[in-house]
Amino acid sequence: MAADIIAIYPGSFDPLTSGHVDIIRRGSHLFGRIIVGVLLNRDKSPLFTVHERVDIAREVFAGYTNVEVDTFDGLLVEYARRKGASAIVRGLRAISDFEYEMQMALMNRHLNPDVETVFMMPAEPYTYVSSRLVKEVVALGGSVHGLVPEIVEARLREKRLARETLRA
Ligand code: PNS
Repeated sequence: MAADIIAIYPGSFDPLTSGHVDIIRRGSHLFGRIIVGVLLNRDKSPLFTVHERVDIAREVFAGYTNVEVDTFDGLLVEYARRKGASAIVRGLRAISDFEYEMQMALMNRHLNPDVETVFMMPAEPYTYVSSRLVKEVVALGGSVHGLVPEIVEARLREKRLARETLRA
């Protein structure tokens, strides 16, 4: 039964987008528990620290009793094993995601055949949204309203103000 399954939704979440939120919500309806696993220490110069990313996700999902936010390092399948998770959730937006996602899913299956990767599609309005594009648009002064949770929009504004103050 999917309701008995613990799932991990791993990623960088720098920052959390509305597409991520949509997938986590869908996952929370499907699985008994969904653990948002924020990867530690991959990007040398992230926009948000891991601590900030965890805080943001915890605030967004404060009302969800079966959503947990955590960090992990090392092999994802090892982390899944430690957490008792038998599913890895990944969002698939477009064909362009497929090759990378298929490689990861098959490598993870090779490493641990007991953990199944489950792909979920976000709602259509988020199919073009990525953390990378959000950061680019914000850095160039554009609006990402509606494409990220309100708290992320506010934090992005704070970061931009801080940068502008430093430059002034
Ligand atoms: O949101 P992202 O950055 O596309 O997420 C990538 C992530 C965190 C899912 C991936 O880098 C990962 O699983 N890293 C853990 C290291 C690992 O297990 N690698 C081997 C399996 S592909």
